[in-house]
Amino acid sequence: MRLLITGICGFVGSTLAKQFIEHNPGIEILGIDNFVRPGSWLNKPALEKIGVKIFHGDIRQASDLEVIPRADWVIDAAANPSVLAGVDGKTSSLQLVQNNLLGTVNLLEYCKRHQAGFILLSTSRVYNIPDLCSLNMDVANDGYVPAADQQFPYGLSPAGVAEHYSTAPPISLYGCTKLSSEQLALEYGITFNFPVWVNRCGVMAGPGQFGHPGQGIFAYWIHSFKEKQHLKYIGFGGTGYQVRDCLHPKDLIVLLNKQFNEPINSTKPRIVNISGGVENSMSLAQLTNWCTKRYGHYEVEPTNTERPFDIPWMILDYALAAKTWGWEPQTTVADICEEIAQFADTQDDWCKISAS
Ligand SMILES: NC(=O)c1ccc[n+]([C@@H]2O[C@H](COP(=O)([O-])OP(=O)(O)OC[C@H]3O[C@@H](n4cnc5c(N)ncnc54)[C@H](O)[C@@H]3O)[C@@H](O)[C@H]2O)c1
Repeated sequence: MRLLITGICGFVGSTLAKQFIEHNPGIEILGIDNFVRPGSWLNKPALEKIGVKIFHGDIRQASDLEVIPRADWVIDAAANPSVLAGVDGKTSSLQLVQNNLLGTVNLLEYCKRHQAGFILLSTSRVYNIPDLCSLNMDVANDGYVPAADQQFPYGLSPAGVAEHYSTAPPISLYGCTKLSSEQLALEYGITFNFPVWVNRCGVMAGPGQFGHPGQGIFAYWIHSFKEKQHLKYIGFGGTGYQVRDCLHPKDLIVLLNKQFNEPINSTKPRIVNISGGVENSMSLAQLTNWCTKRYGHYEVEPTNTERPFDIPWMILDYALAAKTWGWEPQTTVADICEEIAQFADTQDDWCKISAS
């Protein structure tokens, strides 16, 4: 099988490529990257060494895809993955849309031309923000927990956000480019008869991730702690109580292999949540406690600053994926933190490399 991974030199793309080569003997992997993500170029030599063929190109340019040979499947991992993209003053809203939506259109045209299957790595950010923010929260062990004695909106429960929860705006510009990509991908697949799967992924983390305050928070926090970089709690009264779940991208491989082998007329749901789930979630303050045990005490500055699109408790409920694909996360949040820290031990200036 020949697989094309876009954003191959990014955190998720490079992790998936290495895992596929390890677990799928005979697989041929092609990749494309424009190296816009600081640090992404560091992954190129190691990937080429294990046989990945990398095209230096941009998915916004349809012609850059014309020179790439036919693949059986495309995994789209090239995006501007920050929820603040388009509003942070670093990227414009038009750049975001061109990267995350028009790039997808070009890939769908490639799939149509070559009859290749398409897998979109979508996001938890496709879900409506205000209802999530209006949940009543208790605090337990330095982290938010939804109060049990409340009426949960449709699709929300203590296990997290399910697929039938609202995707109505506001969901962030980033979330909107992903949601629009989902719709287009499913429509192209039906119209032009190629398989499409949409995996809505929660926060992913692991060694080699290029974190910054707006994206890749687990890696950013651990590397910053180790390198004694200035850290701030933003929003939520500067408490650090905001909670996210955490998934290692290597845990996606089992699911992706099942999706490759599913018949084109499969009746399985095309959209599923994939995440670490409530059992692999952590607040920022809890992550600080973890880092303190490893690196010693280091002061995190509480601030009153608020950030657009922020959510106190964002956990994806992966029950549908468990039921329909038999999929569950394998790597615990503690193991993910440990893997990041072991990688950090081998690096002196990862924060500088990752800074955008
Ligand atoms: N990391 C997460 O927590 C997370 C969670 C949910 C979904 N996702 C999705 O997974 C995918 C990968 O995320 P990541 O964390 O690896 O991000 P990343 O920034 O580490 O990797 C993205 C890669 O894509 C490349 N790229 C960006 N725009 C491109 C373009 N126009 N043409 C070619 N290459 C381009 C970058 O240079 C980078 O190497 C994204 O689609 C993201 O939306 C990530």
